[in-house]
Amino acid sequence: MTSDPSSLFVWIHLPGRTEPVVCGRFTHRRTGGGEAGEFVYGRSYLARAEAVPLDPVVLPLQERVFSTTHLGCWFSALLDSGPDDWGRRLIEQMHGPQDTIGYLLRARGQNVGALAFSPAPDTPASAAPAPLGVEALERLLEVHRTVEHGEAVASEYRDLLLQGTSAGGARPKTTVEHERRLWLAKFPSSRDRPEEPPVPLMEAALLTLADRCDIRVPTHRVLDVSGAPVLLVERFDREPLPGGGYSRWRYASARTLLWSRPEVQQYSYMGSYTNLARQMRVWERTPVQSIRELYRRIVFNCLVGNTDDHDRNTGFVAGPDGFFRLAPAFDLTARPRTPRMYLALAFGSQGAEVSLANLLSEPENFGYERDEAQEVILAQWRTIRSSFVDELVGLGCPPRLAARAFDSLPDVVPHGR
Ligand SMILES: Nc1ncnc2c1ncn2[C@@H]1O[C@H](COP(=O)(O)OP(=O)(O)OP(=O)(O)O)[C@@H](O)[C@H]1O
Ligand SMILES: [Mg+2]
Repeated sequence: MTSDPSSLFVWIHLPGRTEPVVCGRFTHRRTGGGEAGEFVYGRSYLARAEAVPLDPVVLPLQERVFSTTHLGCWFSALLDSGPDDWGRRLIEQMHGPQDTIGYLLRARGQNVGALAFSPAPDTPASAAPAPLGVEALERLLEVHRTVEHGEAVASEYRDLLLQGTSAGGARPKTTVEHERRLWLAKFPSSRDRPEEPPVPLMEAALLTLADRCDIRVPTHRVLDVSGAPVLLVERFDREPLPGGGYSRWRYASARTLLWSRPEVQQYSYMGSYTNLARQMRVWERTPVQSIRELYRRIVFNCLVGNTDDHDRNTGFVAGPDGFFRLAPAFDLTARPRTPRMYLALAFGSQGAEVSLANLLSEPENFGYERDEAQEVILAQWRTIRSSFVDELVGLGCPPRLAARAFDSLPDVVPHGR
């Protein structure tokens, strides 16, 4: 069958299967009046007993044409499976600039979630190359530097980059297999600031602190690769199968949940945690615990200055029961304090402002009474303040940089508490 450049076939890995099945077709249609994105589930997919929706709200399992004009005429759940800045950059190295369909089709790595894409229903979605082991990290460190400097990568190293072509986010990364598990490997970037703790160390320290603040995080560790720290974070959307290979779980970013109620998103720039909590009640089977955890993450983000908490830095993963649930936290940063700080998403009566008053303004939207919220904030404050420097230094961060980062933490709680 000839492929149509404005169409793409969506495949899905059903739980426990290593081979994907065709699930539907997306078409980017230009009409007299404008443009629209359309998705239809295949009849054979709808007939399967184990069929699951790509997005239970916007794309329920129904035999009809779903249409969207949001997000550049795309369904957010499909974009979540595609590459972001880093993956696109690698694809451009190999194939030149693409449109969104081109990026989705040319991403060859272990893309997030359970979806895969192909240009025609009889062309199987291209399988990801065999996962790299940690021994590849040393060479990748060099090759990533070449890419970041905008230089062409020698053809013999291109295969090494294939795994990274499906990566989300902007920082250099790839997926590796280690101890029979899949990990996201996050590298230092040439854009990192030398006066701040190395980013992989800061991210690792924050994951450990978040864990102590009752926030679920993936297993993680830092490897020394030719003197550079590389953070390994276990993939929460993969699970090893007893016979080899991995089960792949569906993934949806907070953006997808927010856009599953467009009338809400429309009136609130970039969405908000408050709207996210509302949508979690629709998406999750037992949302109460997740929504309370979301509040603890908001508190944590304020206390460490994680203002990079945009709507693709919170995610949801569907487990064996088929329901989406708040995924473990990832991509934590600590931005140095500025006179007025704002998270990326609003959460209280003062919008996204990082302040104690704002944290305590509407905790009930996240299932917390004010008194209990106050306890959470104080407990996290003490945990973070008492071990921030030790965690960083223990990972190998120069004490001077760790101390400076500590001094730059936002002053959310008045001193002496
Ligand atoms: N442990 C994980 N398991 C599975 N997928 C993950 C995991 N951590 C992150 N991801 C996915 O990979 C994407 C990129 O990861 P991450 O956000 O850590 O990268 P980044 O380059 O630091 O991002 P940013 O551009 O936001 O700074 C995330 O948006 C998420 O979809
Ligand atoms: Mg990110």
